[in-house]
Amino acid sequence: MKVEPFLVERYMSSYEHLAKLNIAETCVAPFRLGELLSLIGREDLLEELRDLTLDYGHTEGLPELREGIAKLYRRVEPDDVLITRGAIEANFQVFYTLLEPEDKVISIFPAYQQLYSAPKSLGAEVRLLRLREEESWLPDLAELERMLDGGTKLVVMNNPHNPTGSLMDEGMLKRVIEIVESSGAYLLCDESYHGLFLDSSSPSAADLSERVIVTRSFSKPLSLTGLRLGWIASRDRGLIEEMKLRRDYVSISNSILVEKIAAEAIRNASKIYERSLSILRRNLPRLRELVESRDYLHWVPPKAGSVAFPGYDLNLGSEELALRLLREEGVFLVPGSCFGIEKHLRIGFGARPEVFEEGIARLGSFLDRLRG
Ligand SMILES: Cc1ncc(COP(=O)(O)O)c(C=O)c1O
Repeated sequence: MKVEPFLVERYMSSYEHLAKLNIAETCVAPFRLGELLSLIGREDLLEELRDLTLDYGHTEGLPELREGIAKLYRRVEPDDVLITRGAIEANFQVFYTLLEPEDKVISIFPAYQQLYSAPKSLGAEVRLLRLREEESWLPDLAELERMLDGGTKLVVMNNPHNPTGSLMDEGMLKRVIEIVESSGAYLLCDESYHGLFLDSSSPSAADLSERVIVTRSFSKPLSLTGLRLGWIASRDRGLIEEMKLRRDYVSISNSILVEKIAAEAIRNASKIYERSLSILRRNLPRLRELVESRDYLHWVPPKAGSVAFPGYDLNLGSEELALRLLREEGVFLVPGSCFGIEKHLRIGFGARPEVFEEGIARLGSFLDRLRG
């Protein structure tokens, strides 16, 4: 099996250890374990876990965890949920279950690269539905309709969107589901950033259709990246059963210990979302001020999620810019080249506010120096 290098993951692994001020991350300031336990009032949890038997646990996920997750939706039941190792395994399980060589897939672009490169590695024929800045980084639905030719197996979307922070509202999401389902294709909607709504919100696609598959995780809005847990939700039970069959060959189950902590966290999801939103709302104005006060920067302000994708009019490529910024100022962000879009920078505004503030101040003076 051939795979294309996952550019953003390779870039992060190669350089993040050099970062003094990391504004590249997509996760909202990950918790320290003690910080989580005191926020949710469960300082006694570690003591309680001494009695836990460290067996394989439940292959589809701990029942109380699946119940807690189902409550995040309006129409999803615990049996519609399958726990995975992060949204990355969740997406992979969907591809591994649905796709055969030569199947046709449509994926948005730019995007988290897994969404188009993983189907390609399984032999699918992937076509890209390009999101454009002048269309606020939202899909052109007439173009999607033209691309869907009846033979398409799967359409892959991401809402809220990484790297741009765009958000399909309920009306647009319903229209996407209608178009995709009337062609006979499945829709996978990666909702890793769901809940991080900065002005308006949007429902989960899983609540809008029985056939859609959605994926999410504990990594981004829930700030529990190190648990490495995610999930698939779909009201298509047949499909969930098919995915369980595939999963037997990949991971058997997740860590029972990790699932116990996750179950406590999900019971307190609203407190955690509140913490995340307050961090984002504190950081975003600093980024807005940076971008909107410079005539050589432009952007579509993010509507949701924890990342933004400003563009610049300066005479150097994004990787060169990002590496000089890292060397000269210790500030780490992701060049647009990792997403196949030049002269753009992906900035995560979920870092701890003191880090973000200094990172943005240094980025501003660095860019002003470059500009001359
Ligand atoms: C859109 C999207 N999907 C999936 C993932 C994978 O995240 P995780 O496996 O930590 O849930 C990421 C990580 O950046 C992402 O941005």
